[in-house]
Amino acid sequence: MVGHLRKKLDEKGVINMGRLLVFEGIDGSGKSTQIEMLSNFLKSQKQKVFVTREPGGTEFGEKCRELFLGEKLDGLTEACLAFASRNEHILQKIKPALRLGYWVLCDRFSDSTIAYQGYGRGVEINFLREMATNIEKQLSEIRIIYVHTSLERCLERIKKRSGVKNKFDNSSKIFYEKVIYGYSNIVKERGGTIIQVDGNDEIKKVFSKILQSVPELEQFKTNHNHLGDI
Ligand code: ADP
Ligand code: TYD
Repeated sequence: MVGHLRKKLDEKGVINMGRLLVFEGIDGSGKSTQIEMLSNFLKSQKQKVFVTREPGGTEFGEKCRELFLGEKLDGLTEACLAFASRNEHILQKIKPALRLGYWVLCDRFSDSTIAYQGYGRGVEINFLREMATNIEKQLSEIRIIYVHTSLERCLERIKKRSGVKNKFDNSSKIFYEKVIYGYSNIVKERGGTIIQVDGNDEIKKVFSKILQSVPELEQFKTNHNHLGDI
């Protein structure tokens, strides 16, 4: 491990040794599956891993999540709840974990708010972008992995998925098409920060693609024979 190369300073000049990897994509695209695989893989490589999600991640964030997913709300209200949850998440969990050298694997972040509340629900995108930029200033680096899976596959997977449904699971095809269009614009705007992987492939192939294409995981490329253990 080349620990000294991974040390970065955050905006307050505090040494920040971990890495924040955010997974984005529409519901059913395969984010949670890939996060679990990557978490297991990194742990097998003796790395410290913190898996978290949004909205949520803190006691306050989980309360926001309950309101966010349980209530019928205006898009702007949803966006405010998502950002409120995110800010506490960064302050209470993400930054402390990064300082302690953890790999932070986060299921969704700002791009979900821009794609769902902005493109999907019509909240002003520039306002959301500005909020996202300001909130992300608190982090020295962020890598986003966008799992791009066709809507048909996602809808099939959501239908089959067991567990409690959330209010977005019953969203219309038109809504998801807008969200996917939003993600495609976000990919262009974010440039090199975001890595797009094809989520239509089989699970292990998607994972292998992530290992191959995410620069932060470069050091583990040659270890992907461990894939068989996951
Ligand atoms: P998300 O977190 O993006 O909503 P999940 O990881 O929960 O997606 O995946 C949704 C469902 O699809 C789960 O039942 C999961 O087992 C299945 N799944 C995930 N990735 C794939 C894949 N690449 N091929 C086939 N099924 C998949
Ligand atoms: P989640 O369980 O993360 O979704 P998934 O089905 O992908 O596993 O549920 C969170 C839902 O909230 C999901 O439908 C996306 C939506 N969401 C937003 O609309 N805006 C946001 O800012 C975030 C973080 C999530």
